[in-house]
Amino acid sequence: MDLDELVFHPWVAQGPRKVPTFVGGSGSYVIDADGRRYLDFSSQLVFTNLGHQHPRIVAAIKQQADRLCTLAPAHASDIRGKAAQLIVEVAPEGLGHVLFTTGGTEAIEHAVRMARLHNGRPKVLAAYRSYHGSTTTSIHLTGDPRRWANDTGAAGAVHFFGPFLYRSVFGSGTPEEECERALAHLEQVILLEGPSTISALVLESVIGSSGVIVPPAGYLRGVRDLCTRHDIVYIADEVLIGFGRTGAWFGVDHEGVSPDLLVFAKGVNSGYVPLGGVLIGNPIFETFTKRPYPAGMTYSGHPLACAAAVGAIGAMHDEGTVAAAARLGTEILGPGLTELAEQHPCVGDVRGIGGLWTVELVRDRLNKEPLVPVGATGEANAPMTAFARGCIDRNLVPLVLGNRIHVAPPLNLSDADASTGLVILDEALSAADKYMA
Ligand SMILES: Cc1ncc(COP(=O)(O)O)c(C=O)c1O
Repeated sequence: MDLDELVFHPWVAQGPRKVPTFVGGSGSYVIDADGRRYLDFSSQLVFTNLGHQHPRIVAAIKQQADRLCTLAPAHASDIRGKAAQLIVEVAPEGLGHVLFTTGGTEAIEHAVRMARLHNGRPKVLAAYRSYHGSTTTSIHLTGDPRRWANDTGAAGAVHFFGPFLYRSVFGSGTPEEECERALAHLEQVILLEGPSTISALVLESVIGSSGVIVPPAGYLRGVRDLCTRHDIVYIADEVLIGFGRTGAWFGVDHEGVSPDLLVFAKGVNSGYVPLGGVLIGNPIFETFTKRPYPAGMTYSGHPLACAAAVGAIGAMHDEGTVAAAARLGTEILGPGLTELAEQHPCVGDVRGIGGLWTVELVRDRLNKEPLVPVGATGEANAPMTAFARGCIDRNLVPLVLGNRIHVAPPLNLSDADASTGLVILDEALSAADKYMA
């Protein structure tokens, strides 16, 4: 019996699957049960920022396992404190405390709860093209179609359009226009919803799994100003992009902006042991010096997860990972993927930053009709399935989402592996070209 059949898999219909079984990994590669090595161009779900089996992270976990595997959150822990210190040191200005969670969605839940307890207002604004997690509050804040099947209408979630020049809802022709119009739209939403009813605004600083959308210059600054003007808590969701993915420690760093709360997970320890958290600014921290924070988790600040964070952040400093991610974008992936777009008629757009890119596939470059419709499965999804199969057959793990190929390798990917990966993407894209209108 295939033991994988005993596992209930998230996001998909259950049933037998034809996928490799991975048993090992090394750097940018995962290794299957037959010893076949696959280049990981997904960083799994964009979290192995330092690749697989990084010796520094593995050693940190082992060392902590030998000392003290676990400890309740109420006790002081040296390794938890060290992890908090390293996180605060690289965080945007003014974020001086950390609530640890076991992942991203839990951290979003807590950030929103903190905001509501802080100002007593009910509503939270979030962008349509967004993903914030799959527990109750975070899936309702999620703007993209992953929300639909869960849409029982959590009170208070209000969606707005963020900037997205390729498919502009504002009819813009330039990034400057898109920025100005998206901010004017957001201000209208705030004014019409009633500023005094809005507790928080949650925004991915670069939209990740809902499209890899880098905001135009000035947008995050504008959001910060609107939140300040209307006393709205600005929550930056940096779960997917925090800790170097965009070529900066955090996405907000590209604009020198400090949110009131910043949510992280994934890259904080490359996902070796589940960890997420909320970085908390002083005004909200102050709220909870006067009264208890009415929530907690058994595994908040788990020592093994914190040890992995200490190992990972230390390695990122010593190995220059953030600068390497920036270079990966400007010198390797950006030019390489743009060249692919020129050769493949099914590519409608290439966009990204640092170590996070997407290749958006369309039926027709002029009308930009997606190559597969939203939520496509079976025959309707054949072009994307053909592309993914083409990658796996050539020993590359891709990340395919709807009509998009997300390119998010480990940030310490070697130039040679990057070239290998781009050649495989090129070959696999030929399979998708065949489905053009
Ligand atoms: C931007 C963003 N926020 C929140 C989450 C939820 O994180 P988790 O899957 O760790 O719960 C994700 C997950 O991919 C994400 O990309």
